Parts: sequence; C-alpha cells; structure tokens
Amino acid sequence: PLVSMKEMLEKGKDNGYAVGQFNLNNLEYAQAILQAAEEEKSPVILGVSEGAGKYMGGFNVVVSMVEALMESYGTTVPVAIHLDHGSSFEKCAQAIHAGFTSVMIDGSHHPIEENIEVTKKVVELAHIHGVSVEAEVGTVGGEEDGVIGGINYADLNECKSLVQETGVDCLAPALGSVHGEYQGEPNLGFKEMEEILNAVNVPLVLHGGTGIPTKDIQKAISLGTAKINVNTENQLAQAKTVRKVLEEKPNLYDPRKYLGPGTEAIKQTVIGKMREFGSSNQA
Ligand code: G3H
Ligand code: ZN
Repeated sequence: PLVSMKEMLEKGKDNGYAVGQFNLNNLEYAQAILQAAEEEKSPVILGVSEGAGKYMGGFNVVVSMVEALMESYGTTVPVAIHLDHGSSFEKCAQAIHAGFTSVMIDGSHHPIEENIEVTKKVVELAHIHGVSVEAEVGTVGGEEDGVIGGINYADLNECKSLVQETGVDCLAPALGSVHGEYQGEPNLGFKEMEEILNAVNVPLVLHGGTGIPTKDIQKAISLGTAKINVNTENQLAQAKTVRKVLEEKPNLYDPRKYLGPGTEAIKQTVIGKMREFGSSNQA
C-alpha cells in the first residue's frame, strides 16, 4: 500500500536498519524498484525530484503510474511516494495535492530562520493530509537537478531548533555527503551525527548514498540514519548496461531489447542496497 514514511522510518530507527529512497526517472525505474521491493519484502521510498517529475509529465502522472503499477503487481510492501528536494511551499503543496505521501522541503540554501519558517508551513499542510515531511540543515555537495552546491556541515543548534519548532518527521543533516560520484572517499561527520541524533531524536536521512562504503553505511545506521537516498548508482548501472547492449548489437532498435536489460540492472542494484541497508524482509 501507499503510505507516508513516518512509520517505516521509525521502525527502521528502532530496529537498526535504513529504508532506501530510490529516485524515479521514468517508467522503468518505477518497475524495477517496485519489483525489487516486493521480491525483497522491503519497505521502499520512491523519490521524485522536481526535474524528474516534470520529465515524467507532472506529479499527477507519477502518482497514477505508481498506483497502476502497484495494482498490476499486487504490491504488498509499504511504498511511499516522496518529493525529493522540494524547493518551495508551493511545490510541496502541489505534490501533496497530487497524492504524494511524503515531501522533502529543502530550505537548506536559505538562512535558518527562513528554513524553519517554510518547513513549518509545509508540516502544517502535510500533516493534515497524513503526509510525512523531511527537512534539511547544512548543504549536500555536488549536483542536484543541475544545481551545483558546496558542502556545509549541519549545525547542531540549528538542527535542534528546526526539529523542535517545525515538528518534521525526519531530518537530513548534511555531514559531508555529496550528490553524484565521490572524488575519493567520503568524509562523513559521524561525531556530529551522534550529537544531532541525541539532540533531535527523529530518524536521520543520508543524502548522496551513491559510492558510500558499506562500513560508513553501517555506522550511519547505528547512529539513527533510517533513510538513505540513492539515485546516481542506479543511473550508472542502467546506462552501463544499455551502452553495452547497443555496442554489442549496433543494429538493435527495439527499445524493449535495450531498455529491458537496463531495467534489470536497476533492479539488481536496488536489491543489493536493500540487503546492505538491512530493510530486506522487514515489510
Ligand atoms: O536526493 C537524492 C540523493 O541524495 C541521491 O544521491 O545520486 O548521489 O545517490 P546520489
Ligand atoms: Zn539529495
């Protein structure tokens, strides 16, 4: 069933595993991720950025597509459709009214007072609809939907005020992670993560899940991280496979013959992440 993230993240936090957010880019991603979740008996979060939502034809199209697939597959595991890096109250409201079950309001590029103000407004609307809310403090490095940013570590007191004043369901404190591929090893602020967890007591979210070594994933989970976002790694797996098939068979033109193997590559990548995050068999 389609549900908010609230319960799945609290269960993850209490039982020492994280639920993966896997981003949708088109139909094939929705197919691969829903199939992986059902096979693994894992809760799952389908992340939709504003850019990807637009690419797929709008938030309503995304919700209809996911609902229809879930019905066709007979999906039994909990699934959340989540707006990833929502840029404004209006975009979050649009997603909520289209039927998203969860939204992220990313006010991290604004001063903390403004971040708190917009997050609070989103929480008020979202909670009326039973929709969960994620907020971000500090900034994730790398590129997201064409916007390139630097790394800024989340400030403990800002995290505390934001959670207390807004009532968000989970918090993404940026602590050195990067969107896209890492240049070398990531350097995550685990000491800060622990302090933030103790101060806020809501499930934490780790962005930029691509390329983080297993030991760091495990450490983050042990420090209250109950949601890990992965996008680039699925895209790399898909592109690599499609490229290989087209190179091997230059006369191939039926999309089912080259996209099909790409979809299988996404599915296997997602299954690997679910096992690594410990969410398999938790649905
Ligand atoms: O919000 C989405 C993510 O943080 C994805 O990051 O593309 O590095 O896996 P990634
Ligand atoms: Zn992100």
